[in-house]
Amino acid sequence: MRKQLQISLALVLAGSAFVVSAQTAASTSSPAQGQAPAPTPVAARSVTQAPVQAKVAMCIGCHGIPGYQASFPEVHKVPMISGQNAKYISAALNAYAKGERKHPTMRGIAQSLTEQDIAEISTFYEQQVKVDPVPETIDPPPAVKALLDKGNCASCHGANFSKPIDGTYPKIAGQHADYLYVALKSYQTEGKPYLGRANAIMAGQVKQFSHAELKTLAKYLATLPGELRTVPQSKFR
Ligand code: HEC
Ligand code: HEC
Repeated sequence: MRKQLQISLALVLAGSAFVVSAQTAASTSSPAQGQAPAPTPVAARSVTQAPVQAKVAMCIGCHGIPGYQASFPEVHKVPMISGQNAKYISAALNAYAKGERKHPTMRGIAQSLTEQDIAEISTFYEQQVKVDPVPETIDPPPAVKALLDKGNCASCHGANFSKPIDGTYPKIAGQHADYLYVALKSYQTEGKPYLGRANAIMAGQVKQFSHAELKTLAKYLATLPGELRTVPQSKFR
């Protein structure tokens, strides 16, 4: 109890420090002082006892900015995670933390989270948007249908690619095409220190496809109506 009080106090103080420095910055025209104050190191305080808004504060800078691009391993949009299955978000964060997914930035972030943080953050993002249900089935052009059939993709991700058969499997309909392409290629990558995903199921799937075919699949899946969104959020409210 006492610890919690101290932490809320620390949060309040951190919040007011930001307001103060923001005002200072606003009242001077010097560009040097106009720089944003150093962000409060969220991971350094007890993330576990903070409210979920404080826990997702470190995600917003990338996942809460529509169209935000990452540059590693190539330029692509950061994945939409709002509306994604909570169980899949947890599975992905655990995979980064364990190193099964090797993306360096997401590894560092996932490692700073406790199990409880991951559970709360995952539920938060799953529930952050409610969208109208998308059509149950899709009608892909023949060339794309042949690829989807060859990989039996719908058998796991659902007939409309928004209803996976298991909560730990992702919704992929409507996800950014450039991200889907990077993700698909990452399941083909082995033996690189900072690159690749070691998921046995998807590794088996992508083996049979060329990069050009993966790109065709990614582009098509991105055009489908989906349940994933990027929800813009301000960091301090
Ligand atoms: C510096 C930018 C950045 C920050 C901050 C960030 N992410 Fe990410 N996130 C990414 C990128 C880029 C990827 C794609 C990584 C890959 O290729 O595997 C990603 C991937 C993910 C994925 C996997 C999505 C999928 O469809 O498989 C999840 C889940 C995720 N991030 C959650 C979070 C959470 C939760 C936070 C905050 C605690 C966070 N991220 C903070 C950039 C960021
Ligand atoms: C046997 C079940 C199964 C089949 C078949 C399957 N997938 Fe997957 N897929 C999964 C699972 C499980 C994951 C999550 C893997 C992980 O945790 O990294 C996944 C992940 C993905 C991702 C990464 C999504 C993200 O947000 O990062 C993409 C893209 C994808 N699958 C596309 C496909 C395509 C395209 C096909 C057909 C060629 C396919 N999948 C076939 C089970 C399957």
